[in-house]
Amino acid sequence: MAKKKILITWPLPEAVMARARASYDVVAHGGDPRITIDELLEAAKSVDAILLTLNEKCRKDVVDRLPEHIKCISTFSIGFDHIDLPACKARDIKVGNAPHGVTVATAEIAMLLLLGSARRAPEGERMIRTHSWKGWEPLQLVGQRLDNKVLGIYGFGKIGQALAQRARGFDMDVHYYDLFRQKPEVEAKYNATYHDSLDSLLNVSQFFSINAPSTPETRGFFNKATIEKLPQGAIVVNTARGDLVNDEDTIAALKSGRLAYAGLDVFAGEPKINEGYYDLANTFVLPHLGSAAVEARNQMGFEALDNVDAFFAGKEMPFKLT
Ligand code: DGY
Repeated sequence: MAKKKILITWPLPEAVMARARASYDVVAHGGDPRITIDELLEAAKSVDAILLTLNEKCRKDVVDRLPEHIKCISTFSIGFDHIDLPACKARDIKVGNAPHGVTVATAEIAMLLLLGSARRAPEGERMIRTHSWKGWEPLQLVGQRLDNKVLGIYGFGKIGQALAQRARGFDMDVHYYDLFRQKPEVEAKYNATYHDSLDSLLNVSQFFSINAPSTPETRGFFNKATIEKLPQGAIVVNTARGDLVNDEDTIAALKSGRLAYAGLDVFAGEPKINEGYYDLANTFVLPHLGSAAVEARNQMGFEALDNVDAFFAGKEMPFKLT
């Protein structure tokens, strides 16, 4: 039987591509230049399924322009805010994501941002790279320790919990808020204190980590009003989605010292990030590296392929979104 044909919109890890090629006739787009939506729509005409990434924004107008025969989309990401799920559902397009592979890698980057922000690592690095380090000084780049500080985690799903586990290793006091309270055994595992409102969590969070998905309810939630509920000089880290943060308000708070530091791996409108971040000393900025670990990227690819395999086997996708 002829192999089904799938479009893969970016070069993926070799192990993932090898598995894809073993099962499918793969139409692989290169990463440079990146695929445009028009190219994706054109390629979709001759394939049976699409494996895409968070870069390909499948808003309603794009979904509506997909050829009628496309009934399977799998995304190489846990996040799915780039896909209009109701529009897919209306077209009976099965959509799946890759929800597990990213967990540890993203929690590690959150931990890196917490540590780097608390200990002012980016400023130290810049000092060396700009040849401006004059030597050790008692008051040079003095930050703060993590131990015995309250870490407030907003969003206590898999990544939030993996961060909690790592933060416990640094003797942080873990607090969390989520729409759903975790079972007592989960809270006990991380010695995590639950707050029944975001405001209550903000009030105690000397460090605050954003681990919630991007939804109409969460977008822009981190703004002037939110920041004012945090303790003076709090540190915020974001490894979730950039559009949860109001950049103007965050930059103003970093400039005034209301926030001591921000560790940001994700940005609204990335890769074009708010200009205000470029010259701010007290930010630790990374280019969306959360899942950029070989173990994570392999597993993400395998999970995305598991969805495609299930679809062609006439089964429910293991990581289905619609
Ligand atoms: C995801 O999978 O949604 C991540 O943001 C990729 O790093």
